[in-house]
Amino acid sequence: MGIIEELNELHERALVALAAVKNPQALTEWKSAFLGKQGAFTRLSRGLGALPPEERPAVGQQVNTKRKAIEQALANAEQRVKRAARSDELEADQVDVTLPGRSPALGRLHPSIQTLRQIFDIFGDMGFQVWESPEVETDEYNFGLLNFPPDHPARDMQDTFYIETPPGAERLLLRTHTSPGQIHAMRRYAPEPVRVLLPGKCYRNEQVTARSDMMFHQFEFLAVGRNITMADLKGTLGGMAVRLFGPGARVRLRPSYFPFTEPSAELDISCLVCGGVGCQICKQSGWLEIGGCGMVHPVVLRNGGYDPDEFSGFAGGFGPERIAILKHGIDDIRWFFSGDERFLQQFG
Ligand code: DAH
Repeated sequence: MGIIEELNELHERALVALAAVKNPQALTEWKSAFLGKQGAFTRLSRGLGALPPEERPAVGQQVNTKRKAIEQALANAEQRVKRAARSDELEADQVDVTLPGRSPALGRLHPSIQTLRQIFDIFGDMGFQVWESPEVETDEYNFGLLNFPPDHPARDMQDTFYIETPPGAERLLLRTHTSPGQIHAMRRYAPEPVRVLLPGKCYRNEQVTARSDMMFHQFEFLAVGRNITMADLKGTLGGMAVRLFGPGARVRLRPSYFPFTEPSAELDISCLVCGGVGCQICKQSGWLEIGGCGMVHPVVLRNGGYDPDEFSGFAGGFGPERIAILKHGIDDIRWFFSGDERFLQQFG
């Protein structure tokens, strides 16, 4: 085969091989096979020296033309391979923008606090101001000033946790109810009329059951002024019930006993599940018990700094967990402070 045929054949072979090149590595291999120092084309060019001198210029020109053509084809192939590599890369890094996003986990208010905030709105609209009072109390504020006689059995129902204090110092305890806040608020404002709402945590040393935990919340409401009667208490509670449980909610006061109120009552609300007909939630009675209330006892008024001949007042203490339990049909109070997100996430 003459050198020209060899050249044509090599040119042909180089182009076919180049067309099959798909990636940068194959391209490098192709370059060394055809254009490298040991490459086919280079070897063929070296053969020029063996030709008779008169043939060299014409053949040399042909070799140059082919070499240029091959180099041009190489430049095109380099572009092609680069583009292919780029699109492979894009393919591999592809992001599916149609996938639904992962929403960040947002915190929310605890159901007890949600209920309390609703209570703040309701009582706030009726002119009560939210007032904080301490969780650590003296025996005197938690019991004595609220007219619990020292050895009265009513104390047994409210055993609590005591703080270690030096001998001779006043005994400190975790409050068992928000009622001591009544004394703090009265002493702060007497002899001005007062309307306060006292929310917060309370503690009792009790058997933990589905119905009672050793820590829970209460809110206390207190109104002291001139000519306040039990009708004001009932009207206030009726307003609260309608806003908490809906327009059909009715209230009932049932006689009870607390040392710090006289008369004392338990507040019942018509069962929101059955509308008062009787069901499992209300134990067929048609009523749900919410908590205690009454007219502030004259001794308590006096301890707060008011003259009971001139002033009267009403008060009550309810549990937001109890309200949430009734509202949402929760079967166990222990869910509230279990820290179980499956429970908490259902609120709000
Ligand atoms: N302190 C009472 C308790 O925890 C609830 C209570 C009853 C509060 C009657 C009051 C009230 O203000 O008047 O059981």
